[in-house]
Amino acid sequence: MTTQTATHILETLESDPQFLRENWCVPKETGRFLSVMALTIGAKNICEVGTSIGYSTLWLAQAAAKTGGTVTTLEYFEERQQLAKNHIEAAGLTHYVQFHLGQALDLLTQFKNAGKSFDFAFIDAAKKEYIHYIHVLETMMPAGSIVVADNTRSHREEMLDFLDYMESSPLFDVAELETPNGQLLARKR
Ligand SMILES: C[S@@+](CC[C@H](N)C(=O)[O-])C[C@H]1O[C@@H](n2cnc3c(N)ncnc32)[C@H](O)[C@@H]1O
Repeated sequence: MTTQTATHILETLESDPQFLRENWCVPKETGRFLSVMALTIGAKNICEVGTSIGYSTLWLAQAAAKTGGTVTTLEYFEERQQLAKNHIEAAGLTHYVQFHLGQALDLLTQFKNAGKSFDFAFIDAAKKEYIHYIHVLETMMPAGSIVVADNTRSHREEMLDFLDYMESSPLFDVAELETPNGQLLARKR
């Protein structure tokens, strides 16, 4: 069964915390949070900016398997993307994930120009670029969509422009989660 297989792959990765740390993966509780949030809104079109080796992708893809949705995940480092593909395949979740290789901002702009839309976005790539990602993403997200941005405490100084923008934007209701790394949770109005 897909879910049991995915759980086994997650547990295998979690048994090597150094590997997860070296690849900047979210902690387990953040993975669970992402999955539950995506399930809560029944997300069908999930965008993940920053795949790394696919740990958070596994959590999001498990949710997508239940909602009948898809995770579109972006990464510019080919070796890490290949590891992510291997993990997703081993988990039996390939059907639910579309991998894209390249600069996140270029890929998001291509999606926008192609008329794509997303109802859930997880932002976890270059911290200084969050402000640019959101400016493109917000045009592709209907009311009720959810944005989760990682590292709002651990990398705060690098994303002050993004945090200021989200706090004052008329487009979003926001809340910040005071976890060790910090996450911004936003809902599009
Ligand atoms: C924090 S890690 C992602 C961790 C992953 N979300 C997880 O929790 O398992 C950020 C990833 O974004 C990638 N990245 C950084 N800047 C990028 C950019 N401008 N375009 C595409 N990928 C980028 C890095 O190569 C890295 O693998």
